[in-house]
Amino acid sequence: MRFKDKIVFITGGAKGLGKATAKAFLEEGACVAISDIHKEAVSKFNEEFQGKPVLAFEADITNYEEMEGALEKTIAKWGRVDVLFNNAGIVNPLIPSEKMKKVDFDKTIDVNLKGTFYVTQIFGKKMIEQKSGRIISVASQVALFGEKGFLPYSISKSAVMLMTRSLAYEWSRHGVTLCAIAPGFIKGGMNEGLVKKEIFVDYLSKRTPIGRMAKVEEFVSCILFLASEGAQYINGETITMDGGMTGYTPESLVDFITKGK
Ligand SMILES: NC(=O)c1ccc[n+]([C@@H]2O[C@H](COP(=O)([O-])OP(=O)(O)OC[C@H]3O[C@@H](n4cnc5c(N)ncnc54)[C@H](O)[C@@H]3O)[C@@H](O)[C@H]2O)c1
Repeated sequence: MRFKDKIVFITGGAKGLGKATAKAFLEEGACVAISDIHKEAVSKFNEEFQGKPVLAFEADITNYEEMEGALEKTIAKWGRVDVLFNNAGIVNPLIPSEKMKKVDFDKTIDVNLKGTFYVTQIFGKKMIEQKSGRIISVASQVALFGEKGFLPYSISKSAVMLMTRSLAYEWSRHGVTLCAIAPGFIKGGMNEGLVKKEIFVDYLSKRTPIGRMAKVEEFVSCILFLASEGAQYINGETITMDGGMTGYTPESLVDFITKGK
């Protein structure tokens, strides 16, 4: 019970990785509030966790007032907030950058970067007032290297990494620490449709030194670790959880040289 009576807020928590993380925090004793734009998923979340210490809001992270309202209701119920998990995010249509539409570029930046900052500022102010708080954000492995088709997503996620570092510098003296996770490709959440195609799973498994995609439970256990007492000195840092894929090259130099001999 690492999170007994801790108050955790998760954005985009009604589905995918956010929901799996909400469930794990509940199992470890936390009170969990989630927000999401998906109306039906929010109702389903309420039904599924009826009788547990949960709150679920339909709220968009790009809407400052809605997120202020979500914080107010969380504070009205539990009096404080200990952990903010900035999980909500979207991926742009995967097309070459020269063909990327303005509307898709703007939307990805609005949600992943601006929305994540708005929520961080709203909750951060409260945590500064409390003199304690932990903020964990989700970046991505594609924030660490160039990957065709992902430009607005990559830019927004690398900005989240720098936001994490900058705010750790600004807010740690007030008792608020931050960190982030840069996951590789996970077998769930936004990849749910794709992982039904064996060819996709095979491709990513071959591209990953560990030989497989990440499990949802591996993502969840990293988030809970980063939120736990034992990880408090990890501050401003982004933990890469990618099975070694960031080090991937299509063919290693040694293999190339060996073959050439
Ligand atoms: N699945 C992966 O392989 C993977 C890898 C790296 C990073 N990530 C990141 O992990 C996070 C969770 O992704 P997922 O795979 O669970 O995706 P998902 O699409 O299954 O879940 C995202 C959730 O966020 C919600 N959401 C979207 N826009 C929102 C907004 N404006 N306001 C509030 N809620 C909003 C969605 O309704 C959904 O419930 C995202 O930030 C994503 O970029 C995922």
